[in-house]
This record gives sequence, structure tokens and C-alpha cells, in this order.
Amino acid sequence: MAGLVGVTAAPFTYVSHVLGLAAAVLVLVWCVHFRGGLAFVAVNKNLIFNLHPVFMLIGFIIIGGEAIMSYKGLPGSKEVKKLIHLILHAIAIVLAVVGIWAAFKYHNDSGIANLYSLHSWVGLGTISLYAIQWIFGFITFFFPGAAPSLRRNALPWHVLFGLFVYILAIATAELGFLEKLTFLQNGGLAKYGTEAFLVNFTALVVIFFGAFVVVSAVAPASTEEPQGYVPIAES
Ligand code: HEM
Repeated sequence: MAGLVGVTAAPFTYVSHVLGLAAAVLVLVWCVHFRGGLAFVAVNKNLIFNLHPVFMLIGFIIIGGEAIMSYKGLPGSKEVKKLIHLILHAIAIVLAVVGIWAAFKYHNDSGIANLYSLHSWVGLGTISLYAIQWIFGFITFFFPGAAPSLRRNALPWHVLFGLFVYILAIATAELGFLEKLTFLQNGGLAKYGTEAFLVNFTALVVIFFGAFVVVSAVAPASTEEPQGYVPIAES
């Protein structure tokens, strides 16, 4: 794969931060202002469901995206960046588990069937692959750490598989927005109303966020670095 000649990651990471912040604000405005708020325990079970998009977007997609970009924007040694990378990914996984728990709790408390949609199948697959990727990365690159030659060979696969899983996560979130909005519209929500526009626009911002995260990961941190899809030199 050819490198991105003459391009560095930094400007793409700045745009990603702005898009991530915008997506976080938009999903909160949707769930709190339009959908009635968030709750872990409530008589109105919709408030429990509302935790799902908030935790999946802010926890999984945005913090996961920041974890991917941690090698590109931050100062400090490679070891410090590696630690930030693995901790942010761990936080993303924990918050995603809470978000998925909220979707199951909403279904179970409301007598709705589980795992009937493409969104839920791809979602469970994505979080499983994400966790597997984290465990393999931890063992290979952090503790106990593989032999140097194995680490070098494993790194391009780690990057490639990581980006694949991240794109799957973005696709899952898109399916989720589409599904929820379709349910709401079937229930009478105005198709061209403010809320429908807000949800579609949030999903659009998420696509752009994902695209900028991927370009940040693929672009070299500086023009002196080797070009291509291997962003960090693993000794
Ligand atoms: C990458 C992020 C996401 C993942 C991994 C994910 C995963 C899941 C899973 C596993 C379920 C099944 C729960 C059950 O069967 O009881 C579910 C349900 C649901 N999710 Fe998501 N979700 C994500 C993001 C979103 C977003 C952003 C929305 C937007 C509103 C959303 C909307 C829904 C809806 C409406 C349901 C209930 C209907 C169904 O089971 O398909 N999801 N999600």
C-alpha cells in the first residue's frame, strides 16, 4: 500500500477531535432534550434505552477513535503513548459493555425480544472482535510481549485488523441510528421534523469522524517517518 505522500496526521486529528465533540453534544441533545433523558433504573424504560446510543457513541466510537489516534497527536515517548492507547481502548470496551447492557435491560424489562436485528448481530460481533484485538495487542506488545521479530510482523496486522473492526463499529452505529429513527417514524415521528433531521445529521457527523480517524491512523506522524499503513516503528 502506497504512503500518503506529503501528508501528516496532525491536521486530521484536530478535525477528528472537533467532529467527535460535535457528535457527543448532538447525541446528548437527542437523548436528553428530545427523548426525555437517561436513567439506569426507571419506570419509563425508554430512559434506560437512551443510555445505549450515548454510551456506544461517546464510549465506544469516540473514546475508541481517540485511542486509535493517540500515537499521532500526543507528545511523549512511544511507551507512554502505548499506555494511553491501551487504557483508552480498555475504557471504550467497558463503556460499550455498559451500553449493550442498557439495550438488553430495556428489551428484557419491556418484554421485547433480543438479538433480532442485523444491528444487534453486527454489534455483538464488533464488540467481540474489539475485545479479542485488545487482548492480542496487550499480550503481543505490552505484557509479557512477544519476541521483537514477531512484534514487527504482527504490527501491520494489528493496524489493519484494528481499522477493520473500527469501521465495523462505525457501520454498526449507523445501523443503530437508522433502526431507532425508523421505529420512531413508524410510531408517528415527523419524517422531516427537527428530531429526524438531528438524528440523521448526528449519524452523518459520525461517518466523517470515523473517516478522519482512519486517515489519521494511516497518515504518518511526521514527513520524516516511513510512509504507509504502519504508523509506529515497533522495536
Ligand atoms: C458500535 C456501536 C453499537 C453497538 C456495538 C451496538 C450493539 C447493540 C446490540 C448488541 C444490541 C442488541 C440488544 C438486544 O438484543 O437486547 C443493540 C440494540 C439496539 N441498538 Fe445498538 N449498538 C451500537 C450503537 C447504537 C446506536 C448509536 C444506536 C442509535 C440509536 C443504536 C440503536 C439500537 C437499537 C434501536 C436497538 C434495539 C433494537 C435491536 O436490537 O436492534 N445502537 N445494539
